[in-house]
Amino acid sequence: MSKKIFSGVQPTGNLHLGNYLGAIKNFVELNNEKENDCIFCVVDLHAITIKQDKNELKSNIRETAATFIASGIDPSKSIIFNQSKVQAHAEASWILSCTAPMGWLNRMTQFKEKAGKDKEKASVGLYIYPVLMASDILLYDTSHVPVGEDQKQHLELTRDIAQKFNKEFICDDFFKVPEPLIKKNFSRIMSLKDGLKKMSKSDPSGLSRINLTDTKDEIVNKIRKAKTDSFPIPNIEKELNDRPEAENLLGIYSSISNQTLEKTLDEFGGKNFSFFKNELAEILSSKISPISGEIKKLIHDRQYLDNILLEGAEKAESIAGKKIKEIKKIIGF
Ligand code: TYM
Repeated sequence: MSKKIFSGVQPTGNLHLGNYLGAIKNFVELNNEKENDCIFCVVDLHAITIKQDKNELKSNIRETAATFIASGIDPSKSIIFNQSKVQAHAEASWILSCTAPMGWLNRMTQFKEKAGKDKEKASVGLYIYPVLMASDILLYDTSHVPVGEDQKQHLELTRDIAQKFNKEFICDDFFKVPEPLIKKNFSRIMSLKDGLKKMSKSDPSGLSRINLTDTKDEIVNKIRKAKTDSFPIPNIEKELNDRPEAENLLGIYSSISNQTLEKTLDEFGGKNFSFFKNELAEILSSKISPISGEIKKLIHDRQYLDNILLEGAEKAESIAGKKIKEIKKIIGF
């Protein structure tokens, strides 16, 4: 059955293996299924919830679009655009922030993590960011949203907001209630230095993540230095309990090789980590280096990227523009 796909990635630099395995790799698979309509958005309005340097933001927007294309998303099949180019996102976000109760937003764990100890200084934008995300999704009658595990709570909120709006304005099914697409085992890639921490672009240690622009040597070096434990690789999944670093590296291997964790354990059970790390570095560089090479090529072709984003924005506008008009009519504007 055909799916309407929407997902977004923030243009905040350092796109990494977590973004790739948790999200972008799945975008490519969905793009490749002929019957799907896919929209992949560079969410620049989300990026400014935290202070950004103007010039870096501009180049990160292009780099994120380049990463989508270099990873295999075909811009002639899927829509690629940046959020700030389509006004309806900001408008819908205001309207839906009048539907979403504060109590629901107060439960969002990502806000608590990102705002840290000094909540008073966090921007209001950071607080209502999940409402903007709900607007992104609901404007396009999205049926499925591919994301990593960390976005699950935001998707539940999106579903709640859609249902509350439909009920309050007595417009059954006006907003389609979207389904998350979260890969069961590999939707939370952890730091290479601490198996209990998510791999993240904001981690101060560059050794904690593999960036999608890393060279082969950088990948080999980071995998060599990745934290492990002193036991051999087990044969069964259950024995990975309480071994978060081992579980993470074996998960990364499985995901990048498109195979189950069980199969990876069959292959490497009983072997030691120095052997496994060589294999992991090998497969990662064979999959990531072509992407990083392509990103580096594409970012020099600004005109090409700007054209893709412009064409994408026009297509997105023609869908979202209609929806926001209907939203306004429903609420009485
Ligand atoms: P962002 O930009 O933080 O991350 C982009 C995507 O990468 C996934 N991801 C990970 N997956 C597995 N392991 C990790 N360590 C890891 N780190 C990041 C994220 O889950 C995400 O899928 N709010 C979103 C962007 C957004 C969006 C949307 C997504 C805005 N509007 C509408 C879907 C639909 C965000 O900040 O993602």
